[in-house]
Amino acid sequence: MSQAKNPRTIAALAILHVVFRGRQLNRVLEHALDQANSENRGIITEVTYGVVRWFWLLEHELNQLLTRPVRRKDQDVLCLLCVGLYQLKFLRIPQYACVSETVDATADLGKPWARGLVNAVLRKYLSSEDQFRSNGLPDDCRYSHPQWIVDLIKQEWPENWEEILRANNCRPKMTLRLNVNKTGVSEYLDLLKENHILASVDQTSPVALQLANRICVENLPGFSNGVVSVQSSASQLAALSMELAPGQRVLDACSAPGGKLVHMLELEPELEEIVAIDIDQARTAEIVDNLSRVQNDAQVITADAARPDEWWDGKPFDRILVDAPCSALGVVSKHPDIKHHRKPADIDQVVEQQRHLLEGLLPLLNRNGKLLYTTCSILARENDSQIEAVLCNHPNISIDQLPPSLGHQTRFGRQRLQDDAGGDGFYYARLKNQ
Ligand SMILES: C[S@@+](CC[C@H](N)C(=O)[O-])C[C@H]1O[C@@H](n2cnc3c(N)ncnc32)[C@H](O)[C@@H]1O
Repeated sequence: MSQAKNPRTIAALAILHVVFRGRQLNRVLEHALDQANSENRGIITEVTYGVVRWFWLLEHELNQLLTRPVRRKDQDVLCLLCVGLYQLKFLRIPQYACVSETVDATADLGKPWARGLVNAVLRKYLSSEDQFRSNGLPDDCRYSHPQWIVDLIKQEWPENWEEILRANNCRPKMTLRLNVNKTGVSEYLDLLKENHILASVDQTSPVALQLANRICVENLPGFSNGVVSVQSSASQLAALSMELAPGQRVLDACSAPGGKLVHMLELEPELEEIVAIDIDQARTAEIVDNLSRVQNDAQVITADAARPDEWWDGKPFDRILVDAPCSALGVVSKHPDIKHHRKPADIDQVVEQQRHLLEGLLPLLNRNGKLLYTTCSILARENDSQIEAVLCNHPNISIDQLPPSLGHQTRFGRQRLQDDAGGDGFYYARLKNQ
């Protein structure tokens, strides 16, 4: 990426890389923010996330405002137009400043010829704003999702699809998990208050606090030494559902970056052993970093968990967590680039991986041992259908019921759907070896 300095240009180039070049939003943004002055980082983050999130709606409206389509080689200008339109539609920035600063950004883009175009399009929008009400728009534009995801979610959740699509477009909340061995809810709330950080109790998990505004983790009291971690409350329910007890041997089969691993270690310090596996070496390194931050320990292995012949020592596990790779369609608000990058064939691929993981790992379960299967997906193919296949193939395996606090009862597990209060979509099913 070029060394642009104007925050709108930096955002437009970041969007270009995510939307048209298939790059991952958080990586691109990290790089983009390195080029920015500290006072511009907030606006760049807001606008980049916002445009990636609302791209289908913004592109639809721009198509009506432009007299001819933007050429492929000028997709950066299209992204800058989206930046301008997003600010006018969604942010409380004075319109004059918004237009003039977006127009100025064309110079930094190295395309001064686009000055007139950006000015004309944004002014045309302002003079005909009423025309752009979302009523009557096709669903893909109105809810800003690719059509295939709209269709899929409508089909899976005919009663809830609009709520789900709306929740996917909300700005995500930042949720903390307290390490109960080091602090308590009211004690940590007081500490946050002393540091002028607004927070409230999150009802989903007993150790979760929700921050009113996202902040840098370095500014969280106690983050560097494991008093607190960042983890959604839906995700916190996984370790809380493992029924951990002293002396157990535990496997965390898809462990990186180690959020649930660390939570399990906090919940039960007297485990006999916990083995953490991930197939991705770079991500396994993140587990090690995470463990060092919280000053805890586990046996960390880089391997394909679905092929125990390559790593298993033959000793069965009392508890197994399979937090499987998935479509992540329950966490779109946090990762809006999923809407751009996910393809229908990816779902087939993760369904296959999930099946291999379950089939490979069930034989490692001790008698009376339990396996918790979780995904941040809301698709039955990745959730109940996987469990149904396990029950068909393994007569020794039965369902161990989970409490209603985990979400809607499904045929075999519990499903949380994403909501506009910031809750993630998450699936849980617990299996028992008789
Ligand atoms: C949903 S993430 C896990 C998140 C993690 N449990 C946490 O709480 O931080 C899924 C992980 O599974 C890993 N993975 C995918 N296929 C795997 C396999 N066959 N064996 C082990 N890990 C795998 C991915 O690299 C990814 O890190």
